[in-house]
Amino acid sequence: MLTTIIYRSHLSDDVPVNILPGMIEKACELNTRHQVTGILLFNGTHFFQILEGPEEGVIDIYTRICTDKRHHNVVELMRDYSPSRRFGNAGMELFDLREHDRATVLQAVLDKGTSRYQLTYDDRGLQFLRTFVEAREKENYFEVLPYDYWDFIADEEAAPASEEGFKFIPVVDPLGRKVTAIEAIPEDQPTSLQDAARFEHDLAAVKQCLLKAGMAIPDGVTLYVTVLPMTLATIPDAVDQLVSTIEAAGLVPEQIILGVSETQVISLLDEFASAVKRLKQAGISLSIDNFGDGSAGLSLLAYIQPDRVRIGAGIIRDIHRSGPKQAVVQAVIRCCSALEINVIAAGITRPEEWMWLEAAGVIDFQGSLFTPEGASIAWPEFREVI
Ligand SMILES: Cc1cc2nc3c(=O)[nH]c(=O)nc-3n(C[C@H](O)[C@H](O)[C@H](O)COP(=O)(O)O)c2cc1C
Repeated sequence: MLTTIIYRSHLSDDVPVNILPGMIEKACELNTRHQVTGILLFNGTHFFQILEGPEEGVIDIYTRICTDKRHHNVVELMRDYSPSRRFGNAGMELFDLREHDRATVLQAVLDKGTSRYQLTYDDRGLQFLRTFVEAREKENYFEVLPYDYWDFIADEEAAPASEEGFKFIPVVDPLGRKVTAIEAIPEDQPTSLQDAARFEHDLAAVKQCLLKAGMAIPDGVTLYVTVLPMTLATIPDAVDQLVSTIEAAGLVPEQIILGVSETQVISLLDEFASAVKRLKQAGISLSIDNFGDGSAGLSLLAYIQPDRVRIGAGIIRDIHRSGPKQAVVQAVIRCCSALEINVIAAGITRPEEWMWLEAAGVIDFQGSLFTPEGASIAWPEFREVI
């Protein structure tokens, strides 16, 4: 199957530009062996490359390229399939953008085309190329330091105390070294119950969580508890019950965030929206969790504006390497910023994911990078030179 991979990357500081001709020569040899063809652009700082060929060959070459220390911040922009190659002649052709004006390069690239139809810049792959040549989108190049520029130092005092049957997971602002909220999660969450019984059980579990957390968490700390959206939509006095429990737990509604997952079907949108109204009237905040993973996506925000959204591990995993994930998360961040909704990024496992999201404007995080096994929080500390 003919596959195209397009990526951009940043030349490493300690690599002289004069290595390029030799590198291209070698690349051509290897590409020819794998029946891979393509084009490489260089603007003095960044590379942009289109690789085309049989899927196995393209992936093999791209995997080698990703681990090459001569460049860094390799971001995959596109992976697609097509009936024919755009550039079938050259193992790898280099265009140095410092040596030609933009219009000349754009025309020269089209002239290299070998597809049966005249190449045009309507093609998605070539639109990426034109954007790079015209130096647009540069404000979205959030580049991150290598992971080993950071140490993560355990701080046992900052971690919330544990309670039997419950996990307390902090939400942290790593650069501000602050715990901004604590999430309480019951360890036992039965999923076999159906509908009404399930929602009653869910409400009881949330109430238990509130009571336990009331004893365990320090005064004034924001408490995050998740609830099924249909629990709020189907139990008419669910919000009243929660408010009384909050009071009984010695907490105040303003310190509670109720998180509902966007992946759980909200089939009664009107009932859910009116429960949200009652929550807000009572002073309780709403978070939409796993944001972007469900079917509603951004359009949900046109109907219900939560105080927070939490984006989950699926979309965050390896975000520093994926152009499509970056574009989606940036759209969420921009939309939330316009609506003054706070964004939490959960499921962070790698320093690069955290650094990319910080650069994109996220402040609050959860994930094993900051809460490894054991009762401590790992704060990042910058390590100058390795
Ligand atoms: C910007 C850039 C583009 C590259 N393009 C190719 C390429 O198209 N084909 C290729 O075989 N190697 C390319 N390389 C070199 C590979 O990273 C790698 O060194 C080479 O495939 C040899 O693989 P090996 O190091 O596993 O032996 C490129 C390197 C850089 C920094």
